[in-house]
Amino acid sequence: MSKVVVANDHGAVELTARIVDFLKSQGYDVNYLGIAENKSVDYPDMAKLACDEFKKGGYEFGILCCGTGIGISISANKIKGIRCALPQNCFAAQMAKEHNDANFIAFGGRIDYKDDVIDMIKAYIGTQASQDERHARRRAKMMALEK
Ligand code: RB5
Repeated sequence: MSKVVVANDHGAVELTARIVDFLKSQGYDVNYLGIAENKSVDYPDMAKLACDEFKKGGYEFGILCCGTGIGISISANKIKGIRCALPQNCFAAQMAKEHNDANFIAFGGRIDYKDDVIDMIKAYIGTQASQDERHARRRAKMMALEK
């Protein structure tokens, strides 16, 4: 069974609950580390919790949510080895996997998306990372920026 780690802050409690339910309905083993009630927490702490867990290994990908998805994705991208995308729509979600091989995707619970977040997750899950040389080269350059 594929494992996914999920975390959120208070800005995305309902959205994250929907995401967790969807992932479980698809047979994913979900390690939910977020907050399920409207208790204020700091999104960098939630990003670190989920990314540190992901880096232990065995996870297919991770999902992070905050009010906008911005703070939690910026935080995740400060952590070595994490490529967290913040897709705006299904096309971007597909490209996040195909071109960037994002290992995390982030969403905003207070954002009015044109495409449903669940459809964006389906687009991401249903796409393979391109092994094309130019995409592999760009990913390697992206990760070299960590050094
Ligand atoms: C918390 O109020 C809010 O700032 C957070 O959820 C997120 O939107 C930050 O980027």
